[in-house]
Amino acid sequence: TRVAVIGGGQNCEHEVSLASAASVAAALDPGTYDVVPLTIDRDGTWRDRGLRPIGLSGAAQVLRGCDVVFPVVHGPRGEDGALAALCELAGLPYVGSGIRPGALAMDKWATKLVAQAVGIATAPGVLVSAATAGHLRWTHPVVVKPVAAGSSRGVSLVRSVETLRPALDAALALDDRVLVEDVVEGREIDIAVLRCADGAVVASPALEIVADGIFDYDDKYGGEADLRVPAALDDVDAKALEDAALAAYDALGCAGVARVDFFLTSAGPVLNEVNTVPGMTEHSQVPRMFAAAGLGYADLLDELVRSAR
Ligand code: DAL
Ligand code: MG
Repeated sequence: TRVAVIGGGQNCEHEVSLASAASVAAALDPGTYDVVPLTIDRDGTWRDRGLRPIGLSGAAQVLRGCDVVFPVVHGPRGEDGALAALCELAGLPYVGSGIRPGALAMDKWATKLVAQAVGIATAPGVLVSAATAGHLRWTHPVVVKPVAAGSSRGVSLVRSVETLRPALDAALALDDRVLVEDVVEGREIDIAVLRCADGAVVASPALEIVADGIFDYDDKYGGEADLRVPAALDDVDAKALEDAALAAYDALGCAGVARVDFFLTSAGPVLNEVNTVPGMTEHSQVPRMFAAAGLGYADLLDELVRSAR
């Protein structure tokens, strides 16, 4: 089976995607899969295995020569449904979520609305733009984030009035819509949900991130993060988190694997966000979560490729 693995992308998570894609390409079983790597530069240039620029039409030709496409591009113009759309238009089976779940989950405001509609708690928040940001009055600690970005890029914890404006500017630099949310006090716990090749939908063991303040870009990729899997949870919390993760995955209409991120508060789980193309190096959260359930990295990737449609 010939699998095109696409990495890179035109957004602030470019390097993260390169790492995820390289790891996926290296770990797909060479006895089963012929891996065809494709890279998208920050400026949108597509490159082939030999890193030669081939243009979109060249990329389409390479993709048509493959049996399955495995998009591993985080963030806008990748995870947001853009690569799913390319595969749909080209009539190619691909790993992961379709256009709508990708677009909905990439948009933290839309995710909030969908979650609320199915009874999953989210942080109270307001949406602002460059035109309305100036009217915002700071009264209590908030988290400011671009509506569509990832890896905590452009996200700030605002604990004082002086830091509100710089935080808004940092977020507005990455998106023209910004979410200002109340700070949620709780343990940071993630659960991955996978729709297997046979159609069964399973939740991974929960993973807890023990971070001081925001689990930011440096914590995520600097190797300092304290990740605990399986997270120590009582039965009631474990069930509530798993039910909410499965409900979010289902409500958004996800496929393949998604990582559903929560804060566990004294009042139960509060959804933070859903990642339809989560970090996928062997040491990323999702592979660690499934490894804790006995599904190794190569087997997880195999399951994903076989679930492509
Ligand atoms: N956006 C990063 C890649 C993640 O969610 O893992
Ligand atoms: Mg994310």
